[in-house]
Amino acid sequence: MVINFIERIYVNSPVHTIDQRRVVKFLKETKQLPAGSHVLEIGCGRGVGMRLIVESFSPTRAEALDLDPRMVKLAERRLRGIEGTEVACRVADAEKLPQADGSVDAVFDFGVLHHLENWRSGLAEVARVLKRQGLFYIEEYFPHLYANALLGRLLVHPKEDRFEHTEFHAALSGAGLRLLDGARVSSSRLLGVAVKQ
Ligand SMILES: C[S@@+](CC[C@H](N)C(=O)[O-])C[C@H]1O[C@@H](n2cnc3c(N)ncnc32)[C@H](O)[C@@H]1O
Repeated sequence: MVINFIERIYVNSPVHTIDQRRVVKFLKETKQLPAGSHVLEIGCGRGVGMRLIVESFSPTRAEALDLDPRMVKLAERRLRGIEGTEVACRVADAEKLPQADGSVDAVFDFGVLHHLENWRSGLAEVARVLKRQGLFYIEEYFPHLYANALLGRLLVHPKEDRFEHTEFHAALSGAGLRLLDGARVSSSRLLGVAVKQ
């Protein structure tokens, strides 16, 4: 589900960039990715996350996708002319990824699965496109944050089948993704890395 203008103001703000830097640093400290990897970011927004991925993990090939064509345009502009990494941005649905089975070394999700109408399909798609031992870098949010008394009125999110950490962790396991030690879980958010078994 495309985000509303209030959330767009936040995710396109310098405050969010500062948080994203911390998130990527934490994820990298949890699990490094071999240089020269093929990475995919779902729901890339304006491309700041992918820029940080490239700087931190030095992939050879990087694909960024988003459902919202306006976001993809911003990402394309931000990610133009990066040396040493072949970067491609496109409009696509995280519930029906265009990538082939077992074709990607790592998938990054910065606050996207909780925006999907069917997050379980999105998670299944992540598991499908990852190679065996591929890594899933996760920043996910729970209703305690985005559906609380204030944000629940300001933001728009799907209403059915929402997940807390318990459901999300169970679904990761069900999709063959094992959450590595060191994940940071609060009532609002999960930061962690899972590996495809
Ligand atoms: C909260 S924003 C996060 C954007 C970016 N990951 C960041 O952290 O700045 C969620 C993003 O997911 C995108 N999105 C929502 N549903 C999607 C879907 N089904 N497939 C792909 N992208 C989607 C939205 O358009 C939006 O850019």
